[in-house]
Amino acid sequence: MSSKYNLPRGTYDILPDVSYKWEYIIGVFKNTAKLFNYKEIVTPIFEEADLFERSSGETSDIVQKEMYKFTDKKGRVFALRPEGTAPVVRSFVENNLAASAGIQKLFYTGPMFRYDRPQKGRYRQFYQYGVEAIGSNHPYVDAEVIALFYTFIQKLGLTEFEVQINSVGNAKVAERYDQALIEYFTPHKDELCFDCQTRLTKKPRRLLDCKVKRCREIGQAAPVMLDYLDEECTAHFEQVKTYLNQFKVPYSVNPKIVRGLDYYTHTAFEFLNHKLGAQNAIGAGGRYNGLVEQIGGKSLPGIGFAGGFERLLLSMEEENLFSGEELIPQVYIVAIGEKAQAQVASIISLLRQENISVEYDPEKTSLKAQMKAADKIKSPYALILGDDELERGVVTLKYLQERKQIDLAISDLSSYIKS
Ligand code: HAM
Repeated sequence: MSSKYNLPRGTYDILPDVSYKWEYIIGVFKNTAKLFNYKEIVTPIFEEADLFERSSGETSDIVQKEMYKFTDKKGRVFALRPEGTAPVVRSFVENNLAASAGIQKLFYTGPMFRYDRPQKGRYRQFYQYGVEAIGSNHPYVDAEVIALFYTFIQKLGLTEFEVQINSVGNAKVAERYDQALIEYFTPHKDELCFDCQTRLTKKPRRLLDCKVKRCREIGQAAPVMLDYLDEECTAHFEQVKTYLNQFKVPYSVNPKIVRGLDYYTHTAFEFLNHKLGAQNAIGAGGRYNGLVEQIGGKSLPGIGFAGGFERLLLSMEEENLFSGEELIPQVYIVAIGEKAQAQVASIISLLRQENISVEYDPEKTSLKAQMKAADKIKSPYALILGDDELERGVVTLKYLQERKQIDLAISDLSSYIKS
């Protein structure tokens, strides 16, 4: 069958044979976040475009190329959210969450939108999970956020992943580092791609994130941020590593992590699955000590991460981690005869009131067709309702695996199946 309409490029439907996997992964994420005492926050999927333009940075790919921007009927400019951190911080400031005691530990899941070139693991509408911890600059919090992510991935059973960390310093350090990059790249200016030539003057660090082959080759021997860290940044980074060891999170230091968004300071990290190909980041994050103030709040530090559920799903399918099945109803109803079929709903409703999941297909009327369907959906029981039996207040419960059956009074039915 061909439809008159097609999916927008870079989007996908989650069909029933995948939706149960999806629900499983989201459930594991939410439970892990709760284990670390994070509370859920839900923000709208669109915000003022300026929120993202200012926080992600005007030279970031997100702002330059990837935003779904639109103007509403009153001429206000909005954007479908490309990421979740700026909206969470906007909500934190607007709702004055800073006033409540302690560090605000928040988690979220939901669709994000980036007008990117679609490929395996990269979509225009994708679904992120993420956390943000706002209100502490303590290196313990950096390590705990990374440990939360690590625990989540472990609970899913994934083994093919690697944790890489880096420090991108503070504003002062970044300025010195940018200067060093300008000195390093300027002699190669003519060989750089068009975008990188602009980056060189506006945000030299972005050069290190460029996907163009020649730019990457030139960047190979570029100075690394770690060599420019001051004492405070180095001490912070060292303590993060100490806490990570205590949390038993294995990691390696990758001094080349720069991150594609402007708000990062100090710790930056990525979780990679190299088997995924080009889009190998299953998630990433870092500290953002200037963002809350930039969005109009007090000067409060924060740290968080986000990842795409799609890449987790791909990773889990690759490692064969889904042994589960789609939802299987506990009882398949087989109604034989007109009277039984006319009364079927009252028996079904009795079972559902007891939280027993039930399937019945009124289009199938013969015993053979109904038993075949019960087998096909792998239901453990078939409940056979016949005209004569119903008159006597009796039904037959058939154990489909064991091939045995018993007769039961309707009044005993729910308690029997439950037990
Ligand atoms: P990000 O690195 O832009 O960071 O995205 C985080 C993750 O989202 C990526 O590692 C990847 O798994 C997934 N992702 C990004 N773009 C796509 C796409 N087009 N298709 C599929 N998956 C994608 C952020 O979004 C920051 N807000 C993370 C953060 C939270 N930093 C601090 N707190």
